[in-house]
Amino acid sequence: MADYKKPDFWQQKARNEGYPARSVYKLMEIDKKFSLFKPCFEKANGLRALDLGAAPGSWSLYVLRKFINKGFLCSADLSPLSREFDKGLFDNGNFFFIQGDITTEEVRGALYAKGPYSVIISDAAPGTTGNHIVDAARSCELAETVMTYAENILANGGNLALKIFQGGGSGSVLKRMKSLFTTAKSFKPQACRGESVETYFVGLGKKQLSTF
Ligand SMILES: C[S@@+](CC[C@H](N)C(=O)[O-])C[C@H]1O[C@@H](n2cnc3c(N)ncnc32)[C@H](O)[C@@H]1O
Repeated sequence: MADYKKPDFWQQKARNEGYPARSVYKLMEIDKKFSLFKPCFEKANGLRALDLGAAPGSWSLYVLRKFINKGFLCSADLSPLSREFDKGLFDNGNFFFIQGDITTEEVRGALYAKGPYSVIISDAAPGTTGNHIVDAARSCELAETVMTYAENILANGGNLALKIFQGGGSGSVLKRMKSLFTTAKSFKPQACRGESVETYFVGLGKKQLSTF
């Protein structure tokens, strides 16, 4: 029987199935549970998605494989994507990658220019220090940045999934999400390491907010 608790089980499975990181199974679970990409299927021109904190690229590969050539995916990360498993998918004209910091004006401007998006996914996480208070605070800052993307460049009716470390200001991020989406929930996929403080917040159906 497969030992799901073994530290390298998901990593080995990912490599066998053509993904550079185990994190792909977290996105698969979120997608299965919440039909995250439904707004893309409802649009005639298919996918228009944004992947924040995308390297080494498993989530981007999952999305590109799911939608093949229908639509458009934009991804960003401080680090480059791994080219080990993409078989040319990252060279397609329906994919755009920017290497840089998603909290900067420069990257924000480039990503906003490619929007609006019908789905935003973010697995962005800070480099960990081992100090949970510091790490949770940094994770919350990143999550707040992702919320700003969702407020500004996610289409009405669109969906969002973001990673966050529990504690610190995660409660206020969920509150912000609840005011932006019809449904907002916290969900911890089984593929997360048991001891990990990470979880995912999922917002479904961005509300049409009045401007007055
Ligand atoms: C857990 S990894 C993402 C894994 C990815 N979802 C995959 O499936 O391959 C978290 C990523 O967040 C990125 N990251 C953290 N802070 C960032 C920032 N300010 N701007 C862009 N990327 C950031 C890191 O460089 C790292 O690659």
